Amino acid sequence: MVTVSIRELTKKFGKVIAVNNVTLDINHGEFMVLVGPSGCGKTTLLRLIAGLEVPDHGRILFDGEDVTDLPPYKRDTGMVFQNYALWPHMTVFENIAYGLRIRKVPRNEIKKRVKWALELVKLEGLEDRYPHELSGGQQQRVALARALVVQPKVLLLDEPLSNLDAKLRVEMREEIRRLQKELGITTIYVTHDQEEALTIADRIAVMNMGQIIQVGTPYEVYRRPRNLFVASFLGRCTILWGKVLKVSRDYITVESEGHIFKGIVPSNDIKVHVEEGVALVIRPEDVSLEGDASSCNIVRGVVDWISFSGDHLDVKVKINNSRILLTLDADADINVGERMTIYIPYDSVLILPAKGVYEVAYAKEL
Ligand SMILES: Nc1ncnc2c1ncn2[C@@H]1O[C@H](COP(=O)(O)OP(=O)(O)OP(=O)(O)O)[C@@H](O)[C@H]1O
Ligand SMILES: [Mg+2]
Repeated sequence: MVTVSIRELTKKFGKVIAVNNVTLDINHGEFMVLVGPSGCGKTTLLRLIAGLEVPDHGRILFDGEDVTDLPPYKRDTGMVFQNYALWPHMTVFENIAYGLRIRKVPRNEIKKRVKWALELVKLEGLEDRYPHELSGGQQQRVALARALVVQPKVLLLDEPLSNLDAKLRVEMREEIRRLQKELGITTIYVTHDQEEALTIADRIAVMNMGQIIQVGTPYEVYRRPRNLFVASFLGRCTILWGKVLKVSRDYITVESEGHIFKGIVPSNDIKVHVEEGVALVIRPEDVSLEGDASSCNIVRGVVDWISFSGDHLDVKVKINNSRILLTLDADADINVGERMTIYIPYDSVLILPAKGVYEVAYAKEL
């Protein structure tokens, strides 16, 4: 197993700074997910780690050894590209064996290793097929087997599931996660799908505009986002704007939409001050129709919008000029126009400084 250390890495394409001074440490056997909007630099960062791009500045170390100047084939990384990049004129066997052939592995050993890789991805018996004779999911597995067969130090996966349908995507991501843990390979996985990131990762690095905005476990980045970009990119939330009235040891009191809310900052090093403009971040699953009056914000509003999602209802409650999103059981008996009282625990209202609002450009429309 291998650690990957990225130190102050920068890559420019003309005037575009694709990767901007990124520092990141990935542990032995860790499943690190890079997530962020299109164009934020995920693929470029992965290609820099693989050696397919040369950085303008910074270093990359595997197990403390500087690999920045090594060509790709000397870095021992296995990469799965977004479009699989299988060779159409080669069979499954030949596709998987290719990396071993160029490494001059003896013929018998190649046979053994390809068999091992095929079993790993559950494709035994398909070795003589050509890529066009395979389904999307099977092609994806061939690409994975091809990356794994060389027993790489580091596995790099660039949106490997984006061409698959929703059901297969869920199956395959569970399989990739299982394989990764079984083999213990340090893995860096790129996706722009926030749900995929939350379910598959040991840790997530959230990127925006070439920079890493926050790194943490799925729980940390979801429950304790350090800014509005991370809060709104990972999962759904309501954002309200307000002004700080009081800062005490336990809670921060904020006025927003004519109501008084109490909430917390996600981390002790984030400070807000009286009179400061702030954002309140509220996850839909934290809002309920009942609660303990001594530990909840109680807000009255009018049901403004209801949407059926199979196993639940999404509901928006209008409060002055804003709407708070919540989820209810699918069979809840409610109607648009009804008055509704909602309870939001003080501990689940996150208060963040409102500055840096440009970062909310990607906030999902509620
Ligand atoms: N070879 C290149 N030449 C010029 N610009 C490039 C090149 N590769 C990437 N870029 C630019 O660098 C930025 C980062 O691109 P990158 O492909 O790393 O984004 P990404 O996060 O992988 O996006 P996506 O989710 O759409 O795949 C973009 O602005 C892109 O246009
Ligand atoms: Mg990309």
